[in-house]
Amino acid sequence: MRFFEERGLKERVFADRVLEVERSATLEYDAIAKRPGMINLTVGRPDFDTPSVIKEAAKKALDEGKVHYTPSNGIPELRKAIAEKLEVENNIPGLNEDNIIVSGGGKLIIYCIIMALAGKGDVVAIQNPTWVSYEAQIRLANAEVEWLTLKPEEGFIPGDEFMSQLEATDAKLFILNSPGNPTGAVIPEKRIKEMMDICLEKEIFVIADEVYEKLIYEGEHYSPASEYENVITVNAFSKTYSMTGWRLGYCAHPDREIIERIGIIHQQSLSCCTSFAQYGALAAFSADAKDASERFCKELKRRRDYVMDRIRKMDGVVCVKPGGAFYLFPYLGHVDDLELADELLEKGVGVVPGSAFGSQGRGCIRISYGSANLNLLSQAFDRIQDSGFRVHGSRLDI
Ligand SMILES: Cc1ncc(COP(=O)(O)O)c(C=O)c1O
Repeated sequence: MRFFEERGLKERVFADRVLEVERSATLEYDAIAKRPGMINLTVGRPDFDTPSVIKEAAKKALDEGKVHYTPSNGIPELRKAIAEKLEVENNIPGLNEDNIIVSGGGKLIIYCIIMALAGKGDVVAIQNPTWVSYEAQIRLANAEVEWLTLKPEEGFIPGDEFMSQLEATDAKLFILNSPGNPTGAVIPEKRIKEMMDICLEKEIFVIADEVYEKLIYEGEHYSPASEYENVITVNAFSKTYSMTGWRLGYCAHPDREIIERIGIIHQQSLSCCTSFAQYGALAAFSADAKDASERFCKELKRRRDYVMDRIRKMDGVVCVKPGGAFYLFPYLGHVDDLELADELLEKGVGVVPGSAFGSQGRGCIRISYGSANLNLLSQAFDRIQDSGFRVHGSRLDI
């Protein structure tokens, strides 16, 4: 690399897109928070093991020699099981195995969809704050991002300002994420329908990212694809079954052409997902796996209640109880959240600064209670409190 740098040829080596798009903030903070002695609350994953029924099914597939390429969109039995799940649990009509693509995690399938639907000159609207990768992926597709404002005092549920911005947008695509990362907010069905009505009227296509669908403690999940055709549903095995390392996610839409076009990007980049992992995922539809996932959800609710209790005892913090996912996203007022995250790192607690998720995340930090048990969470909050958290200090004036 020095050879090129010395000659001022850096631009020649890299494509503009990688010079413009930043590295994933959550993965960066996770890497730092892995240091010995740290309590790592950065990472967006549950700390449970994958249910054994799923692991056994993958091992069996390996033993049976299921080690080759599979059909690009996924093994038919898995796609069929996904289509049935979406019909029965999410009330999405018109799906069979030909309407599903299984790809490398929720992340890769969302990337494939964005690449297939948005390009130069297109605008894609996203919630502000939201998951870090949407913005990066939209920009990698050479499209533009439009941020729609969510507010801490509204519990990050789309309010009047958000709805007016949606009414006014020129976007061709909107990414809806509920339950949401980093906020944990579960958007009520009524509000999602109001948003969908606007999108339908304005001919905006929607990606409904439902990867936290099963991790809801209050409120109900609503899949807009149950009633609207302009929506591609995305889900993954990662969070529900603690399978983040398996890299399996999927999308669904009743229109075959949509699936075929997205499939081109998936085919030309990944070919197919790991064969034996797909056979493992098939067992996620068993009663044992469902029981395990319900146990995960109960444990996560206990943690959520605990961390909420601790945060409520801190003066001046705005944190509406999140109904789902496994994040707290407290707003601490006019603090520099990057500085605060660094200070907490020094005290031995890894969190992600809120501004990584959009400008409306300024003054917030994301605390992932999925990644640590109650004992560790209690120690982490002691450390946070010891640091003063600056909430009693002069920097806080909400
Ligand atoms: C909102 C959201 N969508 C998608 C993903 C991607 O999940 P996966 O691990 O399946 O790629 C994540 C992961 O953090 C997420 O938070």
